[in-house]
Amino acid sequence: MKKVLVIGSGGREHAIVYALSRSAQVDHIFCAPGNAGIASLAECVAIADTDVPALLAFAQQQQIDLCVVGPEASLAAGVVDSFRAAGIPIFGHTKAATQIESSKEFAKQLMARHDVPTAAYRSFADYNEAIAYVRSRGTYPTVLKYDGLAAGKGVVIAQNEAEADNTLRDMLVGEAFGKGKVVIEDFLQGPEFSFMAFVDHSRVYPMPLSQDHKRAYDGDLGPNTGGMGAYTPLPFISADEEQWALTHILQKVADAMVAEGKPLTGVLYGGLMKTPEGIRVIEFNARFGDPETEVVLPLLETDAYTLFHAIATGEPLQPLQWKKQATVGVVMASKGYPGSYTKGAEITGVNDFDGLVLHMGTTLRDGHLLTKGGRVLMCIAHGKDIPEAQQRVYAEIQKIHCDNLFYRTDIAHWAL
Ligand code: AMP
Ligand code: GLY
Repeated sequence: MKKVLVIGSGGREHAIVYALSRSAQVDHIFCAPGNAGIASLAECVAIADTDVPALLAFAQQQQIDLCVVGPEASLAAGVVDSFRAAGIPIFGHTKAATQIESSKEFAKQLMARHDVPTAAYRSFADYNEAIAYVRSRGTYPTVLKYDGLAAGKGVVIAQNEAEADNTLRDMLVGEAFGKGKVVIEDFLQGPEFSFMAFVDHSRVYPMPLSQDHKRAYDGDLGPNTGGMGAYTPLPFISADEEQWALTHILQKVADAMVAEGKPLTGVLYGGLMKTPEGIRVIEFNARFGDPETEVVLPLLETDAYTLFHAIATGEPLQPLQWKKQATVGVVMASKGYPGSYTKGAEITGVNDFDGLVLHMGTTLRDGHLLTKGGRVLMCIAHGKDIPEAQQRVYAEIQKIHCDNLFYRTDIAHWAL
């Protein structure tokens, strides 16, 4: 029987732990640091997700058989490199391969070298050159991306020259972002969607397509968030388009990373857009999407331990099996999120929810479940189609009570 360590503490990691808990091969799961929901399936250990020496020491002491990494910060901190050097199987990319997410410029150059379809771009380290380029083009909106992990705050769609100027000053002159570069790229239009795949060098195993909802409020209004809900499948992408994106984007990038000596050994997340000219890459992530993973992974029928272990050790896999069910997941977030919010509000009724509740930011105190983050819970329901899953999730969510939570009432509206 196998012992697994999962790194991370959000809804994505709860989904990973949940998938592993259904494997007959796994008899003990540790999660560092985990959360109150994860604690019902795993033993949570108080180690920060970027404390690589402490994570490695724990894994060695417990003689774990496999480690699965959730957050990009852990990957960027080199946790995979350290575990591999110590001979412990670990699912996730090396620090070098994680650049596909951590450096916008690396990703754009890779796509240019290997002819992967994306918006035209140029990159700048100097403010004067950057603003001169923006002025010479004179077309708005224009897209400005800070080159580095910026916790979702690194992209600004500037509507005019003044906004572009202010943004470039912030990113290249001010103290707010640190020293770096800015990628300036063409503005594309169309629905966005997420195409994730498990990748081991050139072997690519696609997951079902899903879509996130980035804005805080109904009607896709309000500020950008980490994601307020997700669903799968997507009616607006045909099987041919999906196959095209798999071949011309995900497979091409997997092969390109091998050719460049930075093979992928974890999740490749394509943030894609269906434009009038075809499917284009908006960004890549080097890990599971959050909250997309919470609606996709529960559909996995293949044994999760076999899958993660095979990717970690380079064993080939059979094609993955997925349940053919529609799934809708709604995030309950603290009032005020993504701005400032308070923590510590009591949540009741979670056990009455008929479906799956994954915890994103919760804690237990004296037997009471309390909020402990911006995004707090992800409520998930399945159905034969999207309308049925949507109707179920919104009926069941009424059973969860908390004075300080809100949620969008239109998750999956793109699919109706
Ligand atoms: P990113 O962090 O690169 O995913 O960008 C955040 C968001 O900005 C994306 O989800 C898009 O909604 C938007 N965005 C990024 N690049 C572009 C682009 N070239 N054209 C239009 N919107 C974009
Ligand atoms: N849901 C978007 C992300 O995980 O980056």
